[in-house]
Amino acid sequence: MRFSSTLVAAAALLSGAEAAYKGFNYGAFFGNQQAKVYADFKYEFEAAKALPGTNSQFTSARLYTMIQHGTKRDVIQAIKAAIDTNTQLLLGLWTSAGQAVVDDEIAALKAAITTYGTKFTNLVVGISVGSEDLYRITPTAIANGEKNPGVQPAQLVKYINQVRTAIKGTGLASKPIGHVDTWTAYNNASNSAVVSALDFLGVDAYPYFEKEHANSIGAANATFYDAYKKTVAAAKGKPVWVTETGWPVSGPKSGQAVASAANARIYWEDVTCSLLRNNVHLFYYTLQDIQYSNPSPSFGIKPGGDLKAVNPLFSLTCPKPLRARLPHTIQPVARHNWIARADVGGHTIIRTSLTQTVTSQSMSTVFVWAPIPTASSSEVVNSPASMPVSTPGSTFPGYPQLDQPGDLTPPFVAPNLVVSIDSSDPNKVIGNSYTAQISPTRSTLIVFDVPPSSPKTCNLVFAVPPAFDPAYIAPMQLTAPGGISVSRLDGPATVRTSASTVVRGTPVGAVLALQSGNKYTVASAPCEAGQKVSYRVDSLDGLDMSFFQMTSPALGLFIEMD
Ligand SMILES: *[C@@H]1O[C@H](CO)[C@@H](O)[C@H](O)[C@H]1NC(C)=O
Ligand SMILES: *[C@@H]1O[C@H](CO)[C@@H](O)[C@H](O)[C@H]1NC(C)=O
Repeated sequence: MRFSSTLVAAAALLSGAEAAYKGFNYGAFFGNQQAKVYADFKYEFEAAKALPGTNSQFTSARLYTMIQHGTKRDVIQAIKAAIDTNTQLLLGLWTSAGQAVVDDEIAALKAAITTYGTKFTNLVVGISVGSEDLYRITPTAIANGEKNPGVQPAQLVKYINQVRTAIKGTGLASKPIGHVDTWTAYNNASNSAVVSALDFLGVDAYPYFEKEHANSIGAANATFYDAYKKTVAAAKGKPVWVTETGWPVSGPKSGQAVASAANARIYWEDVTCSLLRNNVHLFYYTLQDIQYSNPSPSFGIKPGGDLKAVNPLFSLTCPKPLRARLPHTIQPVARHNWIARADVGGHTIIRTSLTQTVTSQSMSTVFVWAPIPTASSSEVVNSPASMPVSTPGSTFPGYPQLDQPGDLTPPFVAPNLVVSIDSSDPNKVIGNSYTAQISPTRSTLIVFDVPPSSPKTCNLVFAVPPAFDPAYIAPMQLTAPGGISVSRLDGPATVRTSASTVVRGTPVGAVLALQSGNKYTVASAPCEAGQKVSYRVDSLDGLDMSFFQMTSPALGLFIEMD
């Protein structure tokens, strides 16, 4: 019996109440080929549910095979572990090793049904016949050194039909049958018969590997969604599940893609969080891949070691969805050169460049930006005194108020002078501006007047708010990730300081990899009460960003006082 088309349609339109499946991919063996047994799978499923910052959402597991590793056709012990941990299952049957192995896979599938009955079948959310088998037969795969034979589309359709026949009249009869492959395989008309035979398409998409496309972390979200949308376009109306995606935490450079935990965090925030928000079935790659081996690249959220004891290599929290709170009249007119928006006299003012102002309808949030200092003007008009500092309690339009991770703890001091300098144009005077620029050639000097009656200890902190959604309203543009190093200047910086006139400084601290939603303590020292103190912020590791120094949400360099 075919999975009924009404059920397919219902699955395609998941309502808020029908939560999408969220999980990881679980191989049948560790990196040293040692088979995972019941206790290993159980430990992994439990660790996935306990991941900090995920609200215990990762309760599903995708398997690649029904066969316990190292046996001919014993049922994989992950099934019993899933039953005992109430883990939903996207089953997999391995189809790249010929009919005899497919027969074994089907035998193990039937054995699982008879052994465990509805305890098992009730947990099954889908059955994937094959994994990347169509990709493996392509010239690209062969050029990439693929050794597994893969399978021709006509043969794969036969396997799919064999599985349909096998589950007829069993507890799995109503479960959707799919296949997992790359978007390029689905996008290839020669594989159209496979798509026709399926109830759903599982797509594996890794911008990291897409060397022939723009694949820096900055382009990764667009590259991922391009692959996803091409799969949807080829799906003949069938649901598309994301069966593998992820960004490596370590490994070689691939095209423009740099493997690092900081970039994996950006990928998580952009791609994973948007899939979670949009209720798309998702099996992330992966929870841990480094146990008993040393894969490169490595995609594991967790490093090697005791899976429940070790911490994730990056934060798994997702920024709060803000779209609904934004006034719908705001258009992304200024995505690339947006500078500021304000509500003045009942109108939103979007400042798109130093010279151009666009007004639109009123909005409820009150936030007033002062006029932007003219950076290019030869005459520097601002004096520190004329630069209003936004106060705590003022809010950025559309931004959730109060209690943001990384908000400032009063009492704190905001800077009164923000001056960028350019080592590629050392005599250029950029002058005082709200916008700080930090790149391999640009640094920013930030000056504080520490109050005379300061407490004992001053902490120099650098705050980065959680990601903005939509990104075009963000007061921060991150062109390339990296860190910052901060020096205390031996003398004051002024509005006329340039790279050629800046005085020397002494390094006081650094942040190796800036990530959103964090407040970093760069340095702690006795407060220099009553003094004017100047700091210089330089780019580390290629960081290229510009940001509005502001207090709500906290963004930039501040002094917090204990
Ligand atoms: C398209 O699919 C066919 C059949 O799977 C395969 O032989 C061929 O190599 C694919 N073409 C490309 C460009 O990947
Ligand atoms: C990622 O791409 C999707 C689809 O184009 C888009 O809706 C979303 O806003 C993008 N997210 C970011 C952070 O760029």
